[in-house]
Amino acid sequence: MIFIVILGKSLASNAPIVIRFSHVVAPNTPKGWGAKEFARRVNRELNGKVRVEVFANGTLYRDNEAIEALAAGDLEMAAPSSAKLMGIVPALQLFDMPFLFSDIQSVHNAMDGAIGEEMKEIFLNRNLGIRLLTFWDNAFKQFTCNVHPLLSPDDFKGLKFRIMSSDVLETQMKSLGATGLRLPFQEVYEVLKKGIVDGQENTASNIYTGNFHKVQQYLTFSNHGYLGYLVIINEAFWEKLPGHIQNKLTAILEDVTKNVRKKAQELDRQQSEQIKIYAKTHDRPGISTLNEYQKKNLQKAMLPVYKKFSTIVPERWVSSIKNM
Ligand code: LMR
Repeated sequence: MIFIVILGKSLASNAPIVIRFSHVVAPNTPKGWGAKEFARRVNRELNGKVRVEVFANGTLYRDNEAIEALAAGDLEMAAPSSAKLMGIVPALQLFDMPFLFSDIQSVHNAMDGAIGEEMKEIFLNRNLGIRLLTFWDNAFKQFTCNVHPLLSPDDFKGLKFRIMSSDVLETQMKSLGATGLRLPFQEVYEVLKKGIVDGQENTASNIYTGNFHKVQQYLTFSNHGYLGYLVIINEAFWEKLPGHIQNKLTAILEDVTKNVRKKAQELDRQQSEQIKIYAKTHDRPGISTLNEYQKKNLQKAMLPVYKKFSTIVPERWVSSIKNM
């Protein structure tokens, strides 16, 4: 009996701590790359004490299922887009606000400064069972459509768009006279192909790796909104980790986050080019880029979103970003 207990204890203490990291996109995207890189570094640098296992393409959990599993302690790590966490922290819809960030630097200023810190505290203070570790980039979103080019607010009227599960995004589409349908990422290709929706908004890397450009005639480089991720871990799991392991994971994550930012910009450029090449070689009529005038018109049409969400997305966050 004593022997069994001792053996059991020694086996348990030698077993690596396993971190399952679930996400819904392809490995060749900013998040896919970041998750692989985090796993590679942890698996190499923690000498077998911690093992990270990455599940890409929604193979373990899809979209919101991952958040529920993580909060319940059935999953250790994930990096959902901020939009998908709005059910538990509505203020995160800050990142969905249309035309809020003038460039990627202003997104980073918000994440790395007081706003990012406040967001981390919200998770800690509300006992959500979820710790926000860091933010990873994807890029700015572009519109695609199968009906006609999307260049002015009128072009959106009466059309249906797949959106992520965010009230701000639903209101954004409504402000253009369109309908936003919340659907999981894994269903986007099929609903576009079958014409269940007319279009969608996403980053070049999600469009390219999801093959959405192959089932959409028109794409507008609009950069109208940002898409990024909250890297989260189950709070109880994190608290049980020894301090030196927490420190090592934090340091690796900090490095990986810096590299994800570079990689995200590189992939955005490359995959935007790949989409343009595909359109050219497949005789597609419509790749457009909004000019300043078209951008201003779209921006103006989306202004009601700000009024509607002024009590949900702190106005001081919005104005500090506008003044950055
Ligand atoms: C989407 O659902 O379009 C994105 O959130 C997918 C992702 O994780 O980038």
